[in-house]
Amino acid sequence: MEMLIGKSSQIQGELYLPGDKSISHRSVIFNSIANGTAKITNISLGQDCISTINIMRNMGVEVDINEQDLTTVTIKGVGRTGLIEPKIVLDAGNSGTTMRLISGLLSTQPFFSVLTGDDSLRSRPMGRIISPLKQMGANINGRDGNTKAPFAIQGSELQGIEYIMPVASAQLKSCLILAAINSSGQTVLHQPALSRDHTEKMLGNMGVDIHNEGLKLIIQPFMGEFESTDVNVPADISSAAFWIVAGLCHKQGKITLKNVGINPSRSGILDVMSAMGGNITIQNSTIVAGEEVGDIVVESSELQGIEIGGDIIPRLIDEIPIIALAACFAKGKTIIRDASDARNKESDRLSITASELSKFGADIEELEDGIIVNGVGSLNGTICQSFDDHRIAMMEAIAAILSHGETTIQNSDCVSISYPKFWDDLSILTGDQ
Ligand code: S3P
Repeated sequence: MEMLIGKSSQIQGELYLPGDKSISHRSVIFNSIANGTAKITNISLGQDCISTINIMRNMGVEVDINEQDLTTVTIKGVGRTGLIEPKIVLDAGNSGTTMRLISGLLSTQPFFSVLTGDDSLRSRPMGRIISPLKQMGANINGRDGNTKAPFAIQGSELQGIEYIMPVASAQLKSCLILAAINSSGQTVLHQPALSRDHTEKMLGNMGVDIHNEGLKLIIQPFMGEFESTDVNVPADISSAAFWIVAGLCHKQGKITLKNVGINPSRSGILDVMSAMGGNITIQNSTIVAGEEVGDIVVESSELQGIEIGGDIIPRLIDEIPIIALAACFAKGKTIIRDASDARNKESDRLSITASELSKFGADIEELEDGIIVNGVGSLNGTICQSFDDHRIAMMEAIAAILSHGETTIQNSDCVSISYPKFWDDLSILTGDQ
């Protein structure tokens, strides 16, 4: 699908955004192996989380989607030993979180399974999970010398390990935690930097002995049973990021985003936009099930270029394309470094952000591990491509409403991976209904 978008005269209003994708995946997976029935409200039902739900269904878990509101699911857990051998190849679609977390779980199940994904997911690096899982004793074998999906897993008994993680990845960490709770002996993970910690929080609340000593994470095997746990999923800060940048960069911007997850391991975008001079306030902040939430209010601002790098990168890893767009409207130079893992996402987000924003007239240069943007203050509409990456398509849509003239976004339907209502919300905020 192609989207044609013109410059908007304003971007204003209040939104309730879809539930956090990372928390949604985890609430489905963990409740599938719990005893009882859990109700998950404000769950993300984008295609990624549907992939996770379908995989759990193929292993015998009953997951009912409320077709009226499309934001509530009920999960009848099968307990820790109740998953059954899937009769078909499990398909994670476009979702790295699904593939990596489920692999950790499957490695200890007493059955055989095969996991695959779409073209993008089958080209993403999986050696980062296969190698430590093998060190734990897992019988997992993947394509391209054990570095890519599809892979086949024959569940077996694993041993805890002490492991130095080569990348600050929550997907890798969560994969190993899911393997570790079913292994013998403790597992110790050394993280190079803090990445999102939803797994630690949710499994900790469900009774797993998991704790941090600085960046060292210590996980004990879990001997008990999980009790089903209802989750009210906060709005996704990675979806909020598009409206945050739109509201700050538009001359007539004022947006309130309700009940957004602002867990510090995710909220690097707020730190960066504030440091750039963005007028951002957090209202009604509170903590729900260990996760911080609050309303984010943004208003038109004069932004200033800054340098972004080091430990903040995992806290904003999905927001790099939209931060690069914000930098086009800032005065001076913005330098993003230490972000080479952004190349391993649904697309190579360093290269594609640079090439696509150049088409809008951005002064942008791709680095091996980042991007340099010289603020130009205004952009011009163009014809651009999403490369089937949902976050690129949404960044281009925000670029379009901030640019003079019209923009055509090719392959724009991929927004449904994380944010099926994105185009409706864009119409609400621009008043173009
Ligand atoms: C995610 C972790 C991040 C992020 C992805 C979701 C998660 O990936 O990019 O969109 O839910 O754990 P990495 O852990 O590979 O950095």
